[in-house]
Amino acid sequence: MTQSATDWQAREAQVYHQTFARAPVTLVRGSGMRVWDDAGREYLDFAAGIAVNALGHANPAIADAVAEQARTLVQVSNLFYTTPQVELGERLTGHSALDRVFFVNSGGEATETCVKIARKWGRLNRDGATGVITTLRGFHGRSLAMTAATGTPAYHEPFEPMPAGFTHVPYNDLDAVRDAIDDSTAAVMLELIQAEGGVWVADADYVTGLRELCDEHGILLILDEVQTGIGRTGKLFAYEHFGVTPDLMALAKGLGGGLPIGAALSTERCSVLRPGDHGSTFSGNPLVCAGARVVFDHVTAPGFLEDVARKGDHAAAELRRLGRETGEITDVRGLGLLVGFDLTGPERADHVIAYARDHGVLLIKAAAATIRLVPALTISDAELDTGLEVIGAALRA
Ligand SMILES: Cc1ncc(COP(=O)(O)O)c(C=O)c1O
Repeated sequence: MTQSATDWQAREAQVYHQTFARAPVTLVRGSGMRVWDDAGREYLDFAAGIAVNALGHANPAIADAVAEQARTLVQVSNLFYTTPQVELGERLTGHSALDRVFFVNSGGEATETCVKIARKWGRLNRDGATGVITTLRGFHGRSLAMTAATGTPAYHEPFEPMPAGFTHVPYNDLDAVRDAIDDSTAAVMLELIQAEGGVWVADADYVTGLRELCDEHGILLILDEVQTGIGRTGKLFAYEHFGVTPDLMALAKGLGGGLPIGAALSTERCSVLRPGDHGSTFSGNPLVCAGARVVFDHVTAPGFLEDVARKGDHAAAELRRLGRETGEITDVRGLGLLVGFDLTGPERADHVIAYARDHGVLLIKAAAATIRLVPALTISDAELDTGLEVIGAALRA
């Protein structure tokens, strides 16, 4: 355990709900790809707040925008118009296939808002249908409804009974979706990369087939781009890799570059929310929207996304090479800077993570034997290579 004057970890154990398997590191400061612990040790952060800090830590442009906004107007509720919210909404709808936005505070609220819209749409347009088909091993959030939507029974059991209305089918299996659709179905919701489930990328045929199936049955396609959206995969939205567009899309994580903001977007056809249907006190307030506006403008600047794709390809190629060299990596998956690699077992994944931490690199898992690289999208080539070198050394140790 890291030595420090104050034992923050012991103090946390006294007061905090013990639900996180935290690494024994207390972080106090960050800058770009780097973070420092309370004993002054420096790390390269390949976790980035779990695929959140798109522009790295303490980005000066975000900090300036937030500081300026904090001195100007932080929160006035959604009972009034505010300018950063409109400007961010225009950016998101202007650069996506979706027409309308509702801001929320997290990914789970973004997916839940999409489901609420789909349910109301189904009541109005599909004879009262409200069912949503989701995928096994998928992840959509931790509210009760999104826990029910999430296709991992272990997440359900402690909190049963689960809200009704969700059916789970295997991922990348179009026939399973076809079989599950019935008169009660309003929508299909999935991630184009099951990130929390282990970084599993959807097959191209599956995604185009899903779009066709939804159109054929007159139901909605909801894409959960909470982890994949805002440049993470080397495109602004992951659906651009697949040549399809969703009816509804959930965003969060990278959107605020570390500020708590999510968004539920929809096409005009699904724009069924009316006064009083939905709301949130803090959501889309001037402070978070001012920061998110900076992230959005950075990620959409010329050449930025191409660079993300190039760095992601480089990381995946180097991990494959390390796999061939050491026999320790059994698979590499992902798109852009969302890269997962499987070790030969959970103990080897634990070893690599502990070794890397001891050598100044923070890594996180996506599954028991799968490590996930989700660094800041602004990572330099040299920082990426340093991280990959430490992973290589860990594999050989
Ligand atoms: C695809 C996806 N959807 C939803 C969520 C939930 O987001 P949040 O933790 O911000 O509620 C996550 C979080 O990991 C996610 O990866």
